[in-house]
Amino acid sequence: MKARRTLATSLVASCLLLATSAQLLPLARPAAPAKADIQSPIKQNIALPPVPGNSPSSDMSGDGGIIISDVIGRERTINIFAGFTRDIDSVSKRLEHSSENTTVLAPLNSAITKLPRKPWEDPKDYAALGQNAYDGQSGEDRAHRNLRRFVEAHVVPASPWEEGQKVETLGGSTVWWEFKDGKKTIQPGNVEVSSVPQKVANGEVWILDGALNYA
Ligand SMILES: *[C@@H]1O[C@H](CO)[C@@H](O)[C@H](O)[C@H]1NC(C)=O
Repeated sequence: MKARRTLATSLVASCLLLATSAQLLPLARPAAPAKADIQSPIKQNIALPPVPGNSPSSDMSGDGGIIISDVIGRERTINIFAGFTRDIDSVSKRLEHSSENTTVLAPLNSAITKLPRKPWEDPKDYAALGQNAYDGQSGEDRAHRNLRRFVEAHVVPASPWEEGQKVETLGGSTVWWEFKDGKKTIQPGNVEVSSVPQKVANGEVWILDGALNYA
């Protein structure tokens, strides 16, 4: 109970931070102290401006095609999630692989900042360890594991991905998609796909209105 209230309080604080500094930094200083770990990809993201048409990286893909890792950072509306993918080895390696196709389900920045908790926070950690759950090296490791679970739940190791085709995400959850009321939705959870701007040699990036359940 107490841990939950503390969490709620810190979330309110960090949401305020997010609201005020969202222009400057996609992900404001988190309440969790694992910031060095988690902000680094974001900073990288800012340091690397989108330069369309500047990097075909033909050395990375056999046929000279552009691949997901080249383009995922270019879409500003998902740059928080794009930063996360670079922080998780299993995912960044996959997106650099030209022979493994992937459908990345990338929640909008607004969907991530609206989450009831940060992607690297787990209520169970607060319940077990209190509000210092993400302090120190073990806390950072814990936050990184939680973030990995979040990101891997949004990576579908298939492309093309047919309607109704059930697939296991890198995180182990089973997902599929279907049209509902004329809208493409990810199931379970009925999360709307707002657009599919990127189709490249090793798959697609789908932009989601919400985050998938990753607990
Ligand atoms: C990978 O994606 C490309 C481009 O969409 C497609 O031509 C190819 O058949 C896919 N490969 C597999 C194994 O799904």
